[in-house]
Amino acid sequence: MTMYDIILKKRNGKSLAKSEIEYFVKGCTDGSIPDYQVSALLMAIFFKGLSRDETFLLTDAMVRSGDVVDLSSIEGVKVDKHSTGGVGDKTTLIAGPLAAACGVPVAKMSGRGLGFTGGTVDKMEAIPGMRTSLEAEEFFSLVNRAKLAVIGQTGHIAPADKKLYALRDVTATVDNLSLIAASVMSKKLASGSDAFVLDVKCGSGAFMETVEDAKALAELMVEIGAASGKKTVALVTNMDRPLGRCVGNAIEVMEVIETLKCAGPADITELSLRLASHMICAGGAAASPDEGRAAAERALRSGAGLEKLRELIAGQGGNPAVIDDFSLFPSAALSLTVRAEADGYVVGVAARDIGIASRRSGAGRETKDEAIDPAAGVMLHKSVGDAVKAGDILAVVYGNDGAKLEDAAAIARSAFEIGSEKVKPAPLVYAVIA
Ligand code: URA
Repeated sequence: MTMYDIILKKRNGKSLAKSEIEYFVKGCTDGSIPDYQVSALLMAIFFKGLSRDETFLLTDAMVRSGDVVDLSSIEGVKVDKHSTGGVGDKTTLIAGPLAAACGVPVAKMSGRGLGFTGGTVDKMEAIPGMRTSLEAEEFFSLVNRAKLAVIGQTGHIAPADKKLYALRDVTATVDNLSLIAASVMSKKLASGSDAFVLDVKCGSGAFMETVEDAKALAELMVEIGAASGKKTVALVTNMDRPLGRCVGNAIEVMEVIETLKCAGPADITELSLRLASHMICAGGAAASPDEGRAAAERALRSGAGLEKLRELIAGQGGNPAVIDDFSLFPSAALSLTVRAEADGYVVGVAARDIGIASRRSGAGRETKDEAIDPAAGVMLHKSVGDAVKAGDILAVVYGNDGAKLEDAAAIARSAFEIGSEKVKPAPLVYAVIA
C-alpha cells in the first residue's frame, strides 16, 4: 500500500478501505507520511467526500491514534458538552455549572480559540490563578467532589486530529462535513465521557453556513456517538450573530457570572438552559429534557449554578472572589467606541467580523504561538432588532495595543448593518437531533 495509491483512489471518487484509512491515520500521526501527501488526500476528500462508513472508520482510527481516557473512577454518568465553534459562546461555563448543580458529573476537556472563534480554556485563564492543566488524579477527584472540572485537552488525545486540523486550517479543507464530524467525535470519544451534548453552530460565523448542512453534520455526529454506545444529542443553533454582548476572555467570564446571577443577556441564558437541560437528561438526573429544563431553571434561580462556578474556580486554583468583584479581572488600558452613523435599526451583527475584531484587539491569536491579551475584546451595546440614533454607541473595543485597537474598531464597525426597517432576530435553536 502506498499513500500515492490512496490519494489516487480518492481523487477518482472511490471508497477507501479500512486498512487504507488506518494506514493514513497512522502515518499522519507518526509523521511518516509527508504533509504534502496528507494535504493532497484532505483536498481529495474535500471534493469527493467520504461515505458514512468511511467517516466512521476515520473517526475510529483517529480515536485510537492516542490515549482513550478512563473515567471509570468518577461516579455516575459523565456528560460532556461540545460546541463546533462560535463567537461569544461562553455556554460551557454556564451550562456546565447548572448541570453539575443538578448532580450530573461534567468532566470537560475544552479547547483554545481557533481562527475567529473563542475557546473556553483561554477564557478560564483570564481568571487570576486559574489552572487549566491538572494531573489526571486531581481532575478525577475534582469531578467526584464538585461534579465539575474543565481542563485543556492533552496532546495525547486524538493526536491525529491535532495534525490533521493544523493542515486543514492552512489548506482550506476545514469546512467538510465528514472531516469536522471525525475531528469533533474522535476527541469526544477519546476523552471518555458516557454522553455528549453537541452544539452545532450554523450561520455566517460558523463552519456550516446553512441550516441544512448543520443538520446533516449534527445527524452524522449523533450517529457516530450512538454507534460507539454513547448517548449523543445535538442542538443546531444560530451563529449569524454573536452570542451575548461580550466577546473576548475576561469580559466573557464576567458575562458568565452575570448570567449565573440571573442578570445575563436573554440569548445566552436561553441557550445555556437548553444545553443544560439535555446534559441533565443525558446524565440521568431528569427523565426528559423538559424535566431537565425545570431542574436547570431551579439551579439558576436558586444560585446553585453560581455556587458551582465558585467551586470550579476555587478547585482549579483561581480566585473565586472575582465572582463578587470584577475589578479583580485583568483590565485593558485602552478602549475605542464604535458609534452609529445614521438613525435606523440594527438588522445584522456579523458574528465572523466581531470574532475577527476581537482577535485583532488581542483576545485571540493571529499566529499559532502568540500570547493572548485576557483583557481585550469587544463589548456590543446594540443587537439585532434594536433601534439606533446617529451617534449611539454600537460597540466598545478593549485592548492594550493602540494600532491593533484601531483595526479592531474598524472591523467591528463593518460588522453592523443598519437598515430602515425593524427585523425580528432569526431563531436561536433551529433543531434538536437525538
Ligand atoms: N471543531 C473541531 O474540533 N474540529 C473541526 O473540524 C471543526 C470544529
